[in-house]
Amino acid sequence: MNEEIEKQKNYAKKVKEIFHKEHKYFLYTFGCQMNENDSEKIAGMLLDMGYVKAENVGESDLIVFNTCCVREHAEDKVYGYLGALKQLHSEKPEMVIAVCGCMAQQKEVQDAIKKKYRHVDIVLGTHNLYKFPELLLDVLETRKNIIEVWESPGSVIEGIPIERESDLKAWVTIMYGCDNFCTYCIVPHVRGFERSRSPSDIIIEIEGLAAKGIKEINLLGQNVNSYKGEESGKVVLFPDLLKKINNIGGLERIRFMTSHPKDLSHDLITAMRDSEKVCKHLHLPVQSGSSRILEKMNRKYTKEYYLNLIEKIKSEIPDITLSTDIIVGFPGETEEDFEDTLDVIGKVRFDSAFTFLYSKRTGTPAASYENQITEKTAKERFNRLLELQTKIGREKNELMRGKHVKVLCEGKSKNNPDMLTGRTDGNKTVNFPGGSVLYGKMLMVEIVGVRTWSLEGKVILVLK
Ligand code: 5AD
Ligand code: SF4
Repeated sequence: MNEEIEKQKNYAKKVKEIFHKEHKYFLYTFGCQMNENDSEKIAGMLLDMGYVKAENVGESDLIVFNTCCVREHAEDKVYGYLGALKQLHSEKPEMVIAVCGCMAQQKEVQDAIKKKYRHVDIVLGTHNLYKFPELLLDVLETRKNIIEVWESPGSVIEGIPIERESDLKAWVTIMYGCDNFCTYCIVPHVRGFERSRSPSDIIIEIEGLAAKGIKEINLLGQNVNSYKGEESGKVVLFPDLLKKINNIGGLERIRFMTSHPKDLSHDLITAMRDSEKVCKHLHLPVQSGSSRILEKMNRKYTKEYYLNLIEKIKSEIPDITLSTDIIVGFPGETEEDFEDTLDVIGKVRFDSAFTFLYSKRTGTPAASYENQITEKTAKERFNRLLELQTKIGREKNELMRGKHVKVLCEGKSKNNPDMLTGRTDGNKTVNFPGGSVLYGKMLMVEIVGVRTWSLEGKVILVLK
């Protein structure tokens, strides 16, 4: 085991010894899948320290915020919760409040916490998350406030304990950080430069998951296409990694995200096509359809390049399901630029799209660009975009009617406990009637109904 992790295990043991009764934690997670995966690591460390999950904030001895700063809205929510906890903390001073994740990494946030939210006991950055046991022990012993944030990352730390949310599907982070510096994006500033995990560490982790019965894994990285691992002195790129993972017995499905169009190679397209476990779904953020705006975003591709790439993918993998991210209202976006975005949506015909209003992030180049778009214009464009995408998404779903598709059953539907839910290879949600014996099974399902955001099915066959 890593020396650092061994040290942390000792700190965790000491935390466990401090308490003489059950101690509980409540964990809030904001943002992307990477944060979800980090939260599973936080939960793993907390279990090691003897904490158990609380039902609610009121009964918690420790409240952890794993934060996101990609858009202002996510930050405002955290500040709102922190403000609301002031009273509870003064009534229960032994309670510990910790803020970690991307927000913690920013100087302005640290200053705001020092000034306005002094009841926060620990601020922990993204690069030293593994040191949570050490910092928590320090706070419990001394009751002083601690801010420990590293400006840049150290080496990749393996072996952090992990408590996974699901026993069917698992996130596996394959690389950390981002080198792209899109001009609107705060991620490279808070997550640091790209670092890839070694292929053998990834494979060992996934083999372990498969042995425990995990059927689907989702490989995570800000830009998985630039994964660059090393094995016996040789470089391993993402398509090779996918092929290696495809050979792991017991796994049913492999997904990955996020891909950057500029780095999506022909090798990756063919690796996807030829690896039977790799789902034929690609999340390929376009961000804008205007070459002029793409340049200002520092995306390093044009509208034509993106459309060509999509054509190439569709010709190699005709049944591909496509999703994307789009930002509306980037500084200087004209009506004509926006129409280019609508044009791309109409030409590609994405199955789904995550659409965002541009959010100004302090410290990014775009924050100081002229011609910031008014909220009214941005919202008006956003609604037009949503209307078009909703129509296309529904039409794409309509094409599924009557088809027989493989669905991995994930359990009861959240919205209707009388129904089961699962996903197609293309990541579409399907709800269908059935009993709990079907949990975790791969099923052949006939699509009998179509909705805008989901499909309705009927089980034809239990495959595995
Ligand atoms: N404003 C709005 N959306 C943003 N994203 C990243 N930064 C911003 C921002 N400043 C979006 C991008 C990215 C997704 C994860 O979040 O579309 O792909
Ligand atoms: Fe942000 Fe661009 Fe990196 Fe994605 S690729 S995390 S949008 S800087």
